[in-house]
Amino acid sequence: MKEPILKIDDVSKVFGGLRAVDRVTFEVNQGEIVGLIGPNGAGKTTLFNVISGYYAPTEGTITFQGRDISGLPPYRLAREGIGRTFQIVKPFVGLTVLENVVIASFLKYPRMADAEVNAERILEFTGLIEKKDESAQGLTLAGRKRLEISKAMALEPTLLLLDEVVAGLNPTEADKTIELILKVRDQGVTILIVEHIMRVIMNISDQVVVLNYGQKIAEGKPDEVAKNPTVIEAYLGESQA
Ligand SMILES: Nc1ncnc2c1ncn2[C@@H]1O[C@H](COP(=O)(O)OP(=O)(O)O)[C@@H](O)[C@H]1O
Ligand SMILES: [Mg+2]
Repeated sequence: MKEPILKIDDVSKVFGGLRAVDRVTFEVNQGEIVGLIGPNGAGKTTLFNVISGYYAPTEGTITFQGRDISGLPPYRLAREGIGRTFQIVKPFVGLTVLENVVIASFLKYPRMADAEVNAERILEFTGLIEKKDESAQGLTLAGRKRLEISKAMALEPTLLLLDEVVAGLNPTEADKTIELILKVRDQGVTILIVEHIMRVIMNISDQVVVLNYGQKIAEGKPDEVAKNPTVIEAYLGESQA
């Protein structure tokens, strides 16, 4: 039977007068990939920031593995097994690819030697091992996004939140990143992925949740959501897709 690992229950995040996330409810089943989509400004990143503890929800409850985690800070959630990437990739300046992942490994492996072993193992897995001694800043956008995934994987998450890791990549790079995401899923990691580009999400998600103006306007299997008139209308409302 499918078990929800994450429950978002009536969650809102208000900035001043703006309801960036407005009473959103959905569940993420263990081992699945759930896609969170919606036009620019729909509230996707804000919801990620609430789930990963960067903001406390203004209202509502977030339950992870049966435990209420609403309002816990990011480092606590990282320890609980929630890893995330950032839409704006920011590698540690002046450090190599390996050093970036070593730092991310310290939470799980406080001893330097263990952190290094873990970091090398992660870089093998994410396909960045050949670039381990290069400056992180010098990587291409695709490389930096892959490094973000590596840093999140260094926490050995059970739930991984991916924010626009495919956006901005060329088709070949996009395919390779999608392959990596599926490989992470095959390791048993549950994935909640935000992507502005619907096409990417449709190919890899078990379930899709659509936000618009902070509200959930649809959810279901990718093919159902893709032909939902409300969803089509929300996307037609914006100039770039
Ligand atoms: N820290 C903030 N303070 C005020 N408004 C914000 C903040 N972060 C996001 N917003 C607003 O919340 C809405 C949702 O933004 P965001 O979550 O970034 O959307 P998405 O990731 O779907 O493009 C937007 O109107 C945005 O301007
Ligand atoms: Mg965003």
